[in-house]
Amino acid sequence: MSEEFEDKVKHYRDMGKSAFVIGYTGECGKELVKALSKNRIFNKVVLIGRRKVELNPDPGPEFEQKVIDYDKLEEYKEAFEGSQVGYCCLGTTRGKAGKEGFIKVDRDYVLKSAEIAKSNGCQHFSVVTASTADKNSMFLYVKTKGEVEDALTKMAFDKLSIFKPAMLLCDRGERRVVERVALTLMKPWIYMFPTKGSVPTSYVGRAMVVDTVTPGDEKLRVHNNEQIHGLVRQDENKK
Ligand SMILES: NC(=O)c1ccc[n+]([C@@H]2O[C@H](COP(=O)([O-])OP(=O)(O)OC[C@H]3O[C@@H](n4cnc5c(N)ncnc54)[C@H](OP(=O)(O)O)[C@@H]3O)[C@@H](O)[C@H]2O)c1
Repeated sequence: MSEEFEDKVKHYRDMGKSAFVIGYTGECGKELVKALSKNRIFNKVVLIGRRKVELNPDPGPEFEQKVIDYDKLEEYKEAFEGSQVGYCCLGTTRGKAGKEGFIKVDRDYVLKSAEIAKSNGCQHFSVVTASTADKNSMFLYVKTKGEVEDALTKMAFDKLSIFKPAMLLCDRGERRVVERVALTLMKPWIYMFPTKGSVPTSYVGRAMVVDTVTPGDEKLRVHNNEQIHGLVRQDENKK
């Protein structure tokens, strides 16, 4: 860890804030929890999900899991109370959930959670969308991600950080045929331009933490794929 980043972490930690994470059982979410656990920037972190999981290694005593029903988010407002910071790594695929299910998770759950969080004092909301997000697109995935970015921007958080990764690199437990084919086809490109078309999920998690502790008055921070790599280099003190 660079000395400069260490100073930022210490300064942020001294503010004594709390946070919640939704989507913490996913690939980016797991890496975010690891980075939060390593840097210990919050007094309390509420991990909100539809199921409890074994957290291995144990992230620490400030982490607490809360199970909620995303279809009844209004009934679980308490899970979001007291968090000044919120992280969202939620998402599914059309293949897994169907068209309606995909929209429900990737747009409706995200926006409803953000709305409840904001009305319960969340000042800084950080979300993972996608490099291709475009609300005017005719493609479901791209359009949905664009709609989420647009709606979150309009919610006027004190600070909104949007992370727009390209292809995520990780050892995914489940089989995703489309993703695997895309990854195989992209391998030469990934090798030649490692910061352009892909990013390890561990970088996304770490970048979210670097962004959180970085001071600044901007209300909106948008990090594209290359900038996510750049945030991680700040952590490592590499130019
Ligand atoms: N795959 C890529 O290459 C790629 C590229 C760019 C952006 N993205 C986006 O990046 C974000 C994070 O991706 P990821 O690969 O880390 O996600 P992931 O591994 O698929 O994890 C998704 C998370 O969302 C939760 N979730 C899914 N369906 C749910 C439901 N019906 N109700 C409640 N929770 C649900 C999962 O909980 P459970 O563990 O309980 O299922 C998990 O915590 C997503 O929005 C994704 O679209 C992906």
